[in-house]
Amino acid sequence: MDLVTGASGYIGGLLVDRLSTEGRPVRAAVRDPARLAPREGVEAVRLDLVSGEGLVEALDGCETAYYLVHSMERTDSRDGDFAARDRTAARNFVAAATAAGVRRAVYLGGIAPPRGTRPSRHMASRLEVEDILLNGLADSVAFRASIVIGAHSDSFRILVRLVERLRMLPFPTWRRNRTAAIDERDAIEFLARAPAVRAAAGRSLDIAGPDVLSYGEMIRRIAELMGVGRLPVGFGSGQTPAAAAVVAAVTGRPVELVRPLMESLATDLLPRDGSAAELFGLRPRTFSRAVEHALADWERAEPLAAR
Ligand SMILES: NC(=O)c1ccc[n+]([C@@H]2O[C@H](COP(=O)([O-])OP(=O)(O)OC[C@H]3O[C@@H](n4cnc5c(N)ncnc54)[C@H](OP(=O)(O)O)[C@@H]3O)[C@@H](O)[C@H]2O)c1
Repeated sequence: MDLVTGASGYIGGLLVDRLSTEGRPVRAAVRDPARLAPREGVEAVRLDLVSGEGLVEALDGCETAYYLVHSMERTDSRDGDFAARDRTAARNFVAAATAAGVRRAVYLGGIAPPRGTRPSRHMASRLEVEDILLNGLADSVAFRASIVIGAHSDSFRILVRLVERLRMLPFPTWRRNRTAAIDERDAIEFLARAPAVRAAAGRSLDIAGPDVLSYGEMIRRIAELMGVGRLPVGFGSGQTPAAAAVVAAVTGRPVELVRPLMESLATDLLPRDGSAAELFGLRPRTFSRAVEHALADWERAEPLAAR
């Protein structure tokens, strides 16, 4: 039995679909089980990782537990900031998983900035969670990805909304910073295969597509694939808080989510190497294929103004 935490989230939801389609028994853990549509082969359980409520029941009888949770959207001051909540959640998880005899945690976090650069608050917190999991459960696998491209990925949706709705983009110098985004289908494939890849035990692995692109170039390519004639150009506001407020207003996403994500754009986010693809025998899709697929998927649910 595999436990998927964060099953109501973007990555967790896709993974539950994927594992149950394969016929693997899945326990889907969510804070509010009413938010999960019933699905054959999927057992829904209630779990709050910060309070620890439901942990014993959720982990009972599981070999592998996927850790696909972050708390960036909540601003409840009673439990401190998102980093403190995520630290507590990861520690609660490790203690309960150890007691339950879980063999492997599988985590997806973020690609780290270059050595010597201070990570953003969001990134530092993702790396701290990785550390807690790898040190707490020796057989675990931690993946790191930058932007996951898919119709329901927050970071991709923000880029598409900006292309769709703005003529001037609030990405000043960051336009030149580079990363290698990954198609959601490839990210899910790495996660799904992780329990079976023995050589991945204890490893932190970067997963990425083959194209290293600047954020400016990514936006240009998305605009092209969306059929937007005009090219959005950057304007010169260098302040993350101000730019994040504009982006949050334009995209309709909470500023508590947008700001930490934007703080992470301040450096290159490049994969350390290609060892994950080699170890898992995968060849991730190109940026253009990923964007085409995500836009088509998006349009099946809702029209896109610029297409
Ligand atoms: N999306 C990307 O582009 C991307 C890129 C790189 C890495 N990642 C990593 O992938 C992982 C999943 O991200 P995502 O994009 O799927 O996020 P998401 O859609 O925002 O989902 C976050 C999940 O965490 C759950 N959660 C929050 N607090 C919780 C708590 N106290 N107890 C139990 N569950 C809790 C949420 O449940 P509720 O529904 O109850 O709020 C939700 O299911 C994260 O580690 C993220 O860093 C994502």
